[in-house]
Amino acid sequence: MGTARRLRLGVNIDHVATVRNARGGSYPDPLRAAQMAEEAGADGITAHLREDRRHISDADIDLLVQSLDVPLNLEMAATDDMQAIGLRHVPHAVCIVPERREERTTEGGLEVARDENRLAHFIAPLREAGCRVSIFIAADAAQIEAAARIGAAVVELHTGAYCDAHAEGRFSERDEELARLREMATFAHGLGLEVHAGHGLTYDTVKPVAALPEVRELNIGHFLIGEAIFRGLPAAIAEMRRLMDEARAGVAA
Ligand code: PXP
Repeated sequence: MGTARRLRLGVNIDHVATVRNARGGSYPDPLRAAQMAEEAGADGITAHLREDRRHISDADIDLLVQSLDVPLNLEMAATDDMQAIGLRHVPHAVCIVPERREERTTEGGLEVARDENRLAHFIAPLREAGCRVSIFIAADAAQIEAAARIGAAVVELHTGAYCDAHAEGRFSERDEELARLREMATFAHGLGLEVHAGHGLTYDTVKPVAALPEVRELNIGHFLIGEAIFRGLPAAIAEMRRLMDEARAGVAA
């Protein structure tokens, strides 16, 4: 048994901005958190510029683009405004997510299969500009096939249903969700897509997902920022990294 290539950890800093915006000032600064995450071993920084700007702002994105040494993964809805922002900054990666104003967080995956034509046109200029385009979807064969057809390089599989089932003690459902993630990671990889995963991951739920051999990157935010209150951001990230590495150690190369 060898070790599959190292699993990357993208740290999502949105909720540092949520805390800042609760008081409307400039503290705590998401850029400082991003730089600290970078020093603590994050392989990338993820930020979601929502249409309502409820957490990350345009100025945050400007600063992240200027200052980060690790790749920035910019999450956005598939709107004209967001496409223009993506083209202005050309971040390393753009992750297309569904967005509904009334939701508390990104509740489901993107409906790619029913919106294929529009999404193909949306991502084409971003790809041509040099962004790695990722699509955030449920672990579903039809969505994965559609993501491949529109020319995405990456699919990020939504782990929310798996994490919710765990948190609520619905363990047989959790195991079914994990089986679905496993099967669909293999399926997406077989279509030539790079596979990422994220949403809702915690210390309790990360290892089985980190052990899926085709998964190359996890994006984790809310739990890490919450845990940073108790143990500090570097220690919170270091523990996540340790669990990911431990899970990965058993994966054949
Ligand atoms: N991946 C994507 C595409 C997301 O939209 C989010 C949430 O913004 C995450 C990962 C991270 O989820 P969480 O904050 O629950 O760890």
